[in-house]
Amino acid sequence: MLMSAFCFASFLCAVAARPSFSYMENHFSVDTESEEIRSAAIKRLLEVFGMDDPPAVHGRKQPPQYMLDLYNTVADVDGVTKDPNLLEGNTVRSFFDKTRSEQVEYRFNLSTVARTEKVLTAELHLFKLRPQATPTFNRHHFCQVSIYQLLDAARANGTQDRKLLSSRLVPVHSSGWEVFTITQAVRSWMADEGSNLGLHVVARTLGGSPVEPKLVRFASGRNHHQSKQPMLVLFTDDGRRSTTLQSTGGAAAVASLPPAPLAGSAARRARSVDSGEEAEASRSCTRLPLYVDFDEIGWSGWIVSPRGYNAYHCKGSCPFPLGQNMRPSNHATVQSIINALKLIKGIETPCCVPDKLFSINLLYFDDEENVVLKQYNDMVAGSCGCH
Ligand SMILES: *[C@@H]1O[C@H](CO)[C@@H](O)[C@H](O)[C@H]1NC(C)=O
Ligand SMILES: *[C@@H]1O[C@H](CO)[C@@H](O)[C@H](O)[C@H]1NC(C)=O
Repeated sequence: MLMSAFCFASFLCAVAARPSFSYMENHFSVDTESEEIRSAAIKRLLEVFGMDDPPAVHGRKQPPQYMLDLYNTVADVDGVTKDPNLLEGNTVRSFFDKTRSEQVEYRFNLSTVARTEKVLTAELHLFKLRPQATPTFNRHHFCQVSIYQLLDAARANGTQDRKLLSSRLVPVHSSGWEVFTITQAVRSWMADEGSNLGLHVVARTLGGSPVEPKLVRFASGRNHHQSKQPMLVLFTDDGRRSTTLQSTGGAAAVASLPPAPLAGSAARRARSVDSGEEAEASRSCTRLPLYVDFDEIGWSGWIVSPRGYNAYHCKGSCPFPLGQNMRPSNHATVQSIINALKLIKGIETPCCVPDKLFSINLLYFDDEENVVLKQYNDMVAGSCGCH
């Protein structure tokens, strides 16, 4: 919409500046066409990242520290997966409590989770505050913290209005994050959205009596700093798998490859058609930089990290004889021999293509401004070979 308004504005400018209508008309149609290609290309790129539309982000919030730390654990500075075995699934979603109530009740809106997404683990992260009152019963160093799933009593035959999900001893004087696993409850909410009535947290003494609320407190979204908000963390798998090459290794494997110039100006040079182009084409198959800049694409508003990544590209010739450094398949070796012998017409030399691909990680805001970490397979050419 904005873009078409912009096109129309430039059309009007062109009318004022150009006396020849036919020239201007041609000029305009070319612009429209390239704009169409651009938007089709961006749409296709969004599909690669599993989205229909770019998330609408209204004023950026601070992402939860937990998600930033998780991202830095699984990804290197370029977003490339350090170790593919660190995450069980390929998606981690964080949600903030929607009730923001004063009570120890929490509710998370899971509408952004796709129906097809498989919930592997769900964790409730609560920030325990220091006791406000000095405990009158100093002999109790621990309390029992229990997480209940609220149920619709009418639906559950009126027998139960809550179900125990998780329970643990927590030191009364401690402060910091406490994590409770609540996977079963989240799975039931995913199966029936209407059943999501929220969670209730109860703290008791070891004897089973209720603990004074001033003694055992958890931060709420309403009264405490954003960095201490109750949070639901969902580890899921969206079922998207690599369909082509096996994605082996991670950044460690990248490191073992011959160093290629990184990012920035080198990448820009590689993209532009310059005088070095011909010389490059005659070079044998090699891996060259290809920097994908999310800022240039216009995605920096919703992507937290990385700002871009080096996808690399494969370029060069695969002439006979193919050395082992070109990592040829047997098929490619035979094809290059047939080509060299000119036994059959129309058989080209093999192609220089990625033969190892790595995944990257994206930390981004979704439509509801929840922070999501997602792994995408086959995004970075780890090495190139003649195939
Ligand atoms: C969850 O969020 C969606 C999208 O904003 C909204 O349509 C839906 O009503 C919300 N559900 C609840 C239970 O608040
Ligand atoms: C509700 O109660 C009826 C009869 O007591 C029983 O047959 C049924 O299985 C119960 N349903 C649930 C969901 O517990």
